[in-house]
Amino acid sequence: MSANDDLKALIRTIPDFPKPGIQFRDITTLLLDPGGFALTIERMAAATRGDIDLVAGIEARGFLFAAALAAPLKAGVLLIRKDGKLPGATIAEDYALEYGQDRIAIHEDALVPGARVLLVDDLIATGGTARAAVRLIRKAGGVVEQAQFLVDLPDLGGADALRKENITVDALVS
Ligand code: PRP
Ligand code: ADE
Repeated sequence: MSANDDLKALIRTIPDFPKPGIQFRDITTLLLDPGGFALTIERMAAATRGDIDLVAGIEARGFLFAAALAAPLKAGVLLIRKDGKLPGATIAEDYALEYGQDRIAIHEDALVPGARVLLVDDLIATGGTARAAVRLIRKAGGVVEQAQFLVDLPDLGGADALRKENITVDALVS
């Protein structure tokens, strides 16, 4: 029995979604469980190191965790959106993820120089999404202090790739 086995038990696997061969780790079952979501946020808050100005969440599932975590940390929320959704002037990055390609964006004036950012998402697989988010935050003048995920799929190497960029990476469940 390891520390977050209670949370792991709330996540189900759906084979061959959204493409053949992908084992989709479905967190909707954890979200439906009020205790499971609250525990996830409590444990992410406890794992947060140092002072944070902004919690950055990646659309869409990442928004849930980033917003809930920002409240107890008394930090702001940075929305990293799929391209084309933000109304102001943006900077954007293309990336590949485990099952496709996409483009994310932030407002170009979202960060004050040196802003300390905690990047949060539900899951890291190849790390393509998270690394694109880091490029955006850095381009906008922020410093990514740490990245936290509910789920890491270590065989896909994303967490290790982020660590190579000098980012502290934590995940509750592997
Ligand atoms: C999922 C997940 C991560 C990303 C991880 O997002 O929420 O953001 O994939 O994959 P990677 O490490 O291989 O880049 P998805 O783009 O499916 O969007 P969603 O949150 O809107 O479902
Ligand atoms: N995002 C990228 N890979 C994923 C997976 N295997 N399950 C859920 N979300 C994902």
